[in-house]
Amino acid sequence: MNSESDQASSEVPGFPPRISLITAPTPLEDGGLLPSGARLWVKRDDLTGLGAGGNKGRKLEYLCAEALSQNADCLVTVGAAQSNHCRMTAAAGARLGLDTHLVLAGHRPTRLEGNQLLSQMFGATLHHTGCDDAQWRELESYRSALTDELRSQGRRPHSIPIGGSTPMGALGYWRAFDELMQQCQQLDITPDVIIHTSSSGGTHAGLVAGLAHARAQSKPHCPVIAIGVAKGVALTVDSVFQLAKSTLSLAASDAPLELSDVQIESRFLGDGYAIPTEAGAAATHWAAHRGAWVLDSVYTAKGFSGVLGLDAEGMFSASHNVVFIHTGGLPSVFAH
Ligand SMILES: Cc1ncc(COP(=O)(O)O)c(C=O)c1O
Repeated sequence: MNSESDQASSEVPGFPPRISLITAPTPLEDGGLLPSGARLWVKRDDLTGLGAGGNKGRKLEYLCAEALSQNADCLVTVGAAQSNHCRMTAAAGARLGLDTHLVLAGHRPTRLEGNQLLSQMFGATLHHTGCDDAQWRELESYRSALTDELRSQGRRPHSIPIGGSTPMGALGYWRAFDELMQQCQQLDITPDVIIHTSSSGGTHAGLVAGLAHARAQSKPHCPVIAIGVAKGVALTVDSVFQLAKSTLSLAASDAPLELSDVQIESRFLGDGYAIPTEAGAAATHWAAHRGAWVLDSVYTAKGFSGVLGLDAEGMFSASHNVVFIHTGGLPSVFAH
């Protein structure tokens, strides 16, 4: 294990220790005007640095600090065949000198591509289950069985649920909320809304916890809208509400949280997880041509189609500042 393990510190009051794995603050770019005339800001969490970047790096800073504090000697996690979370966990494992086991949907392809190729490059062991991407319960059972098997072999696995969406992982997006609010203050802008792509719900829960805590302290804050891209557990308001509450408790915050703080917009999902939509393709074209932002069809294309869709429905006008958190997904663009 290298010296990263000595760097865990808890620099946010009340937060458990975090280990430094990403490059932050990530840029907040002026994205020009949306068709309504509202100003778009793009928070570049696709540029978090760790293993080709993305939102999961922020969660892994807390999840891996937890692993090290429990003296784990390997990481186990689970995801879709082209899981960005699994690829970033493999990257974190490489950085920390921890063996990483990935439980993946699908069968082993003849040639690894995209996130799987990178995960293998980072030294992870890939366990292909043959499950469908959306069979979260079955995938989680495989994770649990593999974790038990590793324990029976005398290993000390730190086992991370799908998307790293535990209260510990969600702290990473509470921290991101604070980072974003500080950047807005520095730029002298008042954000009207934060919009992001949501699947397992941890990013959303962390942002909402950050919002509730900032509001309770009379600090700048704004509403958060999650664009749901999976039908799984995360698409219920209640599960994100409970996760956000547990995240607040973990950091000993008694900030009140309202159910109405959890806003999930699921109209941009289309026919299901990882099934591309026409609106997503149009959003990808718009983003690539306007700002050279690369969106992927599974996550960020649908997320950004939510921004354009809500804008077209008249939610925003010329006086508004709309922040889109670009959560990554670049490697899956190279998987066919
Ligand atoms: C690129 C990208 N964006 C957004 C998300 C959604 O994040 P969460 O699972 O925290 O809801 C994911 C999750 O895998 C992702 O890979």
